[in-house]
Amino acid sequence: MRIQVKSGQVRDGVQVIAALEGEQRAERLLPASAARDRQLSQLVAGSGFRGAPNETALLPKGKQWVLAVGLGKAKDLSLDRVRQLAGAAARTVRARGFRHLALPVLSERGLGSAADVAQALSEGALLGLYRYDKLKKLPKHEQGKRIEVITLVVERAGDIAAAKRAVEKAQVIAEAVSFVRDLINGPSNIVTPTYLANQARAIAKRLRLKCTVIPFTQLKRLGFGGIVGVAQGSAQPAQFIVLEYHPPRAKATFALCGKGITFDSGGISIKPSAKMEQMKYDMSGGAAVLGTVQAAARLRLPHRVVGIVAATENMPSGTAQKPGDVLKTLSGKTVEVINTDAEGRLVLSDCLHYAKRYKPDCVVDLATLTSACIVALGAEAIGLMTKDERLAARLNQAGKATHERVWRLPLWDEYKEMLKSDVADIKNVTDTGQAGTVTAAKFLEEFAQGLPWAHLDIAGTAWADKDRPYVPKGAVGIGVRLLIEFMETWKK
Ligand code: BES
Ligand code: ZN
Ligand code: ZN
Repeated sequence: MRIQVKSGQVRDGVQVIAALEGEQRAERLLPASAARDRQLSQLVAGSGFRGAPNETALLPKGKQWVLAVGLGKAKDLSLDRVRQLAGAAARTVRARGFRHLALPVLSERGLGSAADVAQALSEGALLGLYRYDKLKKLPKHEQGKRIEVITLVVERAGDIAAAKRAVEKAQVIAEAVSFVRDLINGPSNIVTPTYLANQARAIAKRLRLKCTVIPFTQLKRLGFGGIVGVAQGSAQPAQFIVLEYHPPRAKATFALCGKGITFDSGGISIKPSAKMEQMKYDMSGGAAVLGTVQAAARLRLPHRVVGIVAATENMPSGTAQKPGDVLKTLSGKTVEVINTDAEGRLVLSDCLHYAKRYKPDCVVDLATLTSACIVALGAEAIGLMTKDERLAARLNQAGKATHERVWRLPLWDEYKEMLKSDVADIKNVTDTGQAGTVTAAKFLEEFAQGLPWAHLDIAGTAWADKDRPYVPKGAVGIGVRLLIEFMETWKK
């Protein structure tokens, strides 16, 4: 599919116009040229179209087709509404069997520069058109339907160059997010730890990055006790993946740690079978880390970015770790494993300790860590835990810009009490069942000592139970856009 940028009157393709909800006839249509078109505003008014967010109406106008898409109320207007509009428009146009659509680069109402809007439109369309169709034959009504060209229409010819650059950036980001979604949607019999390692190697080869993979046998020898404890019950060998982008004269160093549990059965503390199939998404953090390093390299960010992913299954077997077992982690600290289903923090403890060797300016870990985070924040916010106010503010800012929003939970030291063990330095779960998300973060904090560190719990945000305008049901690919924005706007 191709995205082109033009100015002036564009006649081919389905013409998308935007409409605000609850406004007078003339002003409610965007762009301004659509508002001036009497025939068009009458057509839209006559269709009963209200302009509610992502409402669509496909209308014939002479020999052309017009697709009106709702933007919602003017007071709620944002770049994310623009992303949603593009996603809703592109999917509707595809579903109706058209191959070309034209999207207006809206410049009204202080939405942002032409580049900002062009990027949001391109991201929304590309991410909205994503499908995971590798493993099934498409139903008849979807076969052969695909968008071939999207035209972005800018009002001033002088904006074309900036808009084109924004499109290229959006394409890089959308490709990274789609790559992440493919990994997450992929079933665990295909997306094994070895498969993830091979994907990292392939990225490294393509983009000339450094990739180091430490396989299970070596991990045992080198003392990666957290990962080994989780991995020892599985027939699939664990892989510790380090994918690194290191530009010359790098300004800052970021270490990104990802939980890469390709399937979480719970281990001996086995999960109930209802919805267990969803636990293929327990590697969402690891996948996002690989996608972010890929995007950072392709966008030539001026920073060193080290992705560290602990990839393994969590399985029950005769060789699996058992409740009560004590592990010696890479840091030397010992952990009493009360519940083998709290495995993410075990593998991450080794990642965080390993990150120290890079002397990073900042470490962020991403993990589908706790179901308690889903209870607390649902699908709308990533749980953010850090003691670093600056990191919190920057991640919050990046979350707003990308709409991958974060919400902070405390990391007060009182919570650490709950992880005291009688036999080891720390235990992996509390016995009260309270504050599940925070106590998991407190566990991680033990292994991030001395690091400027933030933890992101993406358990609720990594998987979409229902279609959204630019997130089809399934893997969201969350984290890539957030972290790229976070690193791009970084200043010492
Ligand atoms: N991967 C799960 C967390 C999870 C559950 C993510 C559901 C997404 C959806 C994690 O490994 C886990 O099982 N956590 C336990 C911890 C508990 C045993 C303290 C949980 O949250 O229930
Ligand atoms: Zn688990
Ligand atoms: Zn898990």
